[in-house]
Amino acid sequence: MVDNRLIVALDFHKTEDVKQLVNTLGDSVSYYKVGMELFYSEGAQVISFLKEKGKNVFLDLKLHDIPNTVAEGLCSLMVQGADLVNVHASGGYTMMKTAADRLKKAAANQGIACPKLIAVTILTSINEEDWQGLGMTCTIGEQVVRLAKLAKKAGLDGVVASSQEVSAIREACGPDFLIVTPGVRPAGASIDDQSRIATPASALQNGASHLVVGRPIRAAENPKAAAKAIIKEMESVK
Ligand code: C5P
Repeated sequence: MVDNRLIVALDFHKTEDVKQLVNTLGDSVSYYKVGMELFYSEGAQVISFLKEKGKNVFLDLKLHDIPNTVAEGLCSLMVQGADLVNVHASGGYTMMKTAADRLKKAAANQGIACPKLIAVTILTSINEEDWQGLGMTCTIGEQVVRLAKLAKKAGLDGVVASSQEVSAIREACGPDFLIVTPGVRPAGASIDDQSRIATPASALQNGASHLVVGRPIRAAENPKAAAKAIIKEMESVK
């Protein structure tokens, strides 16, 4: 039983810990997320390890810089074998469009698969006070949908969004847009430091295309059983 919609977050510093979890989960999980803490500690070797194991890799580095720098940075990540990469949508239309166009061109020139490119809209850690401090006059929800539409117009494949924002984005951006949703907790699990959470089934019902799950699997007494229980719940929503 494997469900490509489940992405397990490898929030570790060391490749040894990654190897242990990936070997424990075995064939039940096919997609992993590598974030800043792991990539900045271990670099490309962790991607090579995952690719050798036949896994898909979401490299969650959230690039945000001028268009040329972001586009060239993404091309470097593509060569290392990432399947899904991301940028901040607040970098603007030109940055996103340059990145999407250049990735496609570089992939075609080098004869390699082009990774999917998605955008972070508004970080889910931003609260009302932070929002006011940024001088914003619209609501966070309005801005999330505006940025998702901008990402789509720039040619990106999707966005990262909390479960609360999923249905509005799905409605605005259509059925093929990727919506990758963290903050997923099976009923009864610890919520840790997440505040806007959803169960695996409800996040998918709202319109998420992929779920990012970390601690409910990583910190479980039996990670494989935890992953299988989440996949079983996901399978109830097609
Ligand atoms: O352990 P947990 O399931 O909360 O992990 C969720 C993962 O998704 C972490 O890697 C976290 O950094 C990431 N994430 C998130 N919220 C966002 C974007 C990414 O929790 N808005």
